[in-house]
Amino acid sequence: MTFGSVLTQTFTTPKWNPKTGLPDLTGKIAIVTGASTGLGKETALNLSSKGAHVFCVGRSAEKTQAAVADIISKSGNTNVEFLQADLMDLASVESAADTFLARNLPLHILVNNAGIMESPWGLSKEGIETQFATNHFAHVVLTAKLLPVLEKSQPSRIVILSSMSHYANLSSQKGGIKYVTSWEQDKYDAFTRYGETKLANLHFARELQSRLDAKLGVDSKIYVNAVHPGIVRTELQRTMNPTAASVIQPILISAEKGALTQTYVAASEDIEKQNLKAKYFVPYCKVAEISADAQDKTQAVNTWEWTEKILKQQYKPDWTFGL
Ligand SMILES: NC(=O)c1ccc[n+]([C@@H]2O[C@H](COP(=O)([O-])OP(=O)(O)OC[C@H]3O[C@@H](n4cnc5c(N)ncnc54)[C@H](OP(=O)(O)O)[C@@H]3O)[C@@H](O)[C@H]2O)c1
Repeated sequence: MTFGSVLTQTFTTPKWNPKTGLPDLTGKIAIVTGASTGLGKETALNLSSKGAHVFCVGRSAEKTQAAVADIISKSGNTNVEFLQADLMDLASVESAADTFLARNLPLHILVNNAGIMESPWGLSKEGIETQFATNHFAHVVLTAKLLPVLEKSQPSRIVILSSMSHYANLSSQKGGIKYVTSWEQDKYDAFTRYGETKLANLHFARELQSRLDAKLGVDSKIYVNAVHPGIVRTELQRTMNPTAASVIQPILISAEKGALTQTYVAASEDIEKQNLKAKYFVPYCKVAEISADAQDKTQAVNTWEWTEKILKQQYKPDWTFGL
């Protein structure tokens, strides 16, 4: 699948909609990161509208609680809660997971949605470059903490937001991610780095499914999939180069449309019926091919091992994913 064909798909009329396409989700528990706005908020609304109990992860209590109130009023479902986590602070991420785990609830759906794009140079609390910290490392740590409950709650899903940017033919991306061991401002290119983080999302999704299947058997009912949502009008463009942002304005789709594909992957019965694992979905609700770099098993293993290495080095010396 080419970059152009994914773009074209964004502008086809969606045939699927969550109202008729999803089963009753009463009794299902979901966590959605980045639910204060944009695609995360729409996904939380779609799931709660079908009866799921949804935990909305956000860094700002004020902004995310306002989103929760809006979701409750639109869905009529009062089982929507705020879970505080700043993805730029891994202790905060683990603490959010602990808060959830203390409730002794099952977990059927984890949507690793939060993200930033082309942000200016910066470092997280642990000293990890900002885009990699938010888009990849924080979600790896969150997923590791929640994996035991996802295993116990099978059938369960992990949905990872990637992007068509993973296979933009950037010169620095040929051959994949640059596995740095120290983060250097002078080598930082915000556009390229975003693409690298979205490639890391795909490597993580595929390698996680592969390791889960090796541990639990190929018949296990944890489904890990990745999504490109479309080119969507959200707050993601806030840090984008203003000229580039104005050029893409006319081609942006609404957050409501953009959230369709990830909602489908999170909760449609098709995923289990068709045993869809380690796939990449594009608008609307279609499986697509990924770049050669993303398909490369060696690169996926390298990304996994590098991730553990960075987390040991910059977070906790004994950190391990445990798979
Ligand atoms: N929009 C697109 O065209 C597009 C295309 C391809 C892929 N994607 C992917 O889709 C996902 C969602 O993007 P979006 O378009 O919905 O963007 P958005 O409107 O900017 O929403 C991003 C969400 O992530 C949260 N977030 C960012 N940094 C955080 C942090 N340190 N701690 C906690 N939460 C944090 C934001 O919280 P605040 O409200 O506090 O900032 C917000 O809730 C991203 O992973 C993005 O890469 C989007």
